[in-house]
Amino acid sequence: MRNTVATLLEMKKQGEKISQLTCYDYSTACLLDRAGIDSVLVGDSLGMTMQGYENTLPVTMEEMILYGRSVVRGCKQAFVIMDMPFMSYQASIEQAITNGGRLIKETGANAVKLEGGASVAAQIKGLVDSGIPVCAHIGMTPQSVNAFGGFKVQGKGEANAERVLQDALAVQKAGAFMCVLECVPPKLAALITKKTEMITIGIGAGKGCDGQVLVWQDMLGISDFKPKFVKHYGELGKQITEAFEKYHQEVKNAAFPEEIHTYAKSDCSDDFLEKLDQKY
Ligand code: KIV
Repeated sequence: MRNTVATLLEMKKQGEKISQLTCYDYSTACLLDRAGIDSVLVGDSLGMTMQGYENTLPVTMEEMILYGRSVVRGCKQAFVIMDMPFMSYQASIEQAITNGGRLIKETGANAVKLEGGASVAAQIKGLVDSGIPVCAHIGMTPQSVNAFGGFKVQGKGEANAERVLQDALAVQKAGAFMCVLECVPPKLAALITKKTEMITIGIGAGKGCDGQVLVWQDMLGISDFKPKFVKHYGELGKQITEAFEKYHQEVKNAAFPEEIHTYAKSDCSDDFLEKLDQKY
């Protein structure tokens, strides 16, 4: 059974922390799901991790749908959230509902995520009123990288801290059931978690949140990105590169394939192959 908004909210109520990781493809989705991860985010970070862009801004709706569908096929129990890409919801409530609806309808995911606080509260309400569960995303919102002048901690200083709390209250009032807090100082994140009924999911926001999310390539040491908040749970980048190098060498020196990797038993007799050799 796939997790639902209700089962995730029950985890919060019971004080059980919620695990979330990003995911962008079927094979990884199967692994995350098998590991028991509670929720998977098809983040627009795929623009950077899967497509090699500098930031998330170029990602399109069509690309999100393509990646999202393959993730949903791999998730039997994890709750799947689709990121709404840059400029797919900012223009109007109608635009948000149309695109949020497409993400749910065309991928089979369970919820959508959009970035922004009070400024997108009307869009969140429109989506929720249309029956689409919404995860908000406040603090450092990567789609505003140009406005922020880089990827920076948000909520520093009293005025900024109050603004981040006001954003949290605004998205909760609009109907969000979950909210990502990105690069928010830990005590402020804990206060937001205490003051709201939404599930708070932290990334660089300390352990006071209801759950945590990381980009899977970051936590397994595949990407070169290593900000303060990322913990490496493996060094797969190194292992994968070593395996590729070994394969490369073994192909060059004909150490691979060995007989066990061939269909030698299906070969014809040497006599017949000799005849073929002479015939052609
Ligand atoms: O796009 C993404 O992966 C995200 C997470 C980092 C929260 O928004």
